[in-house]
Amino acid sequence: MRIFREKDYDAMSRRAASIIAGETVHNPGCVLGLATGSTPEGAYKYLVDWYKQGLISFRGVLSVNLDEYVGLAPDHDQSYRRFMQSNLFDHVDIVPENTRVPDGLTKDPAAFCAEYDAYIRSLGYVDMQLLGIGRNGHIGFNEPDDHFVKETHVVDLTESTIDANARFFASRDDVPKQAISMGIGAIMGAKKVLLCASGEDKADAICKSVCGPITPNCPGSILQLHPNVVLVADEAALSKLIAAGVEV
Ligand code: PGA
Repeated sequence: MRIFREKDYDAMSRRAASIIAGETVHNPGCVLGLATGSTPEGAYKYLVDWYKQGLISFRGVLSVNLDEYVGLAPDHDQSYRRFMQSNLFDHVDIVPENTRVPDGLTKDPAAFCAEYDAYIRSLGYVDMQLLGIGRNGHIGFNEPDDHFVKETHVVDLTESTIDANARFFASRDDVPKQAISMGIGAIMGAKKVLLCASGEDKADAICKSVCGPITPNCPGSILQLHPNVVLVADEAALSKLIAAGVEV
């Protein structure tokens, strides 16, 4: 695992964006696995900026997003489809039909999930998977559990995730209780993984994911078995790793 130690959120965002931009330059037809949440927002701003300066293009890029809340329409202001539109897709030249976000309104979740995995397989898996991490170690919405789930699936969100995401909703009760999430299989199938983290509240999850036991109790720990992971994190998110004596 290569670790980039950045001083703060902005430096983390710029580094992550430069790695994603590099992928689009070297492989203009790449498949990007994309993530939502506050972690990648800054990186998307840099990418939009560089696109507007004519430095990069998404014309040939295909994208597959990690997850979506069950029950939220694509135009709901907290849906992950809406997040992607307003943070990236609406501002760059990606072809709308080439972007996929799980359908939170699907009437047949099992069939939808199977189709999502089949689509990812048909693309030969993603070239670069961007990941944030939950305070509890979740990646995508693969929550701590007693086993890893390989396939795209419907997840019951943990209380800790509902608490963490309540800040985006009018009240905690408005936070959806379920999500559709890409499984560990598609994430581990990615040719490269770009894991990003900022802030002290991620320090524990990062420490456990990088050097703790590999366990579904901390889903991020499975990344220790991936051959090509880049971690971009700020000082605060790396603080426990540094305290544990890991050289970064
Ligand atoms: P955040 O969420 O980027 O909003 O902190 C990350 C995650 O829960 O995966």
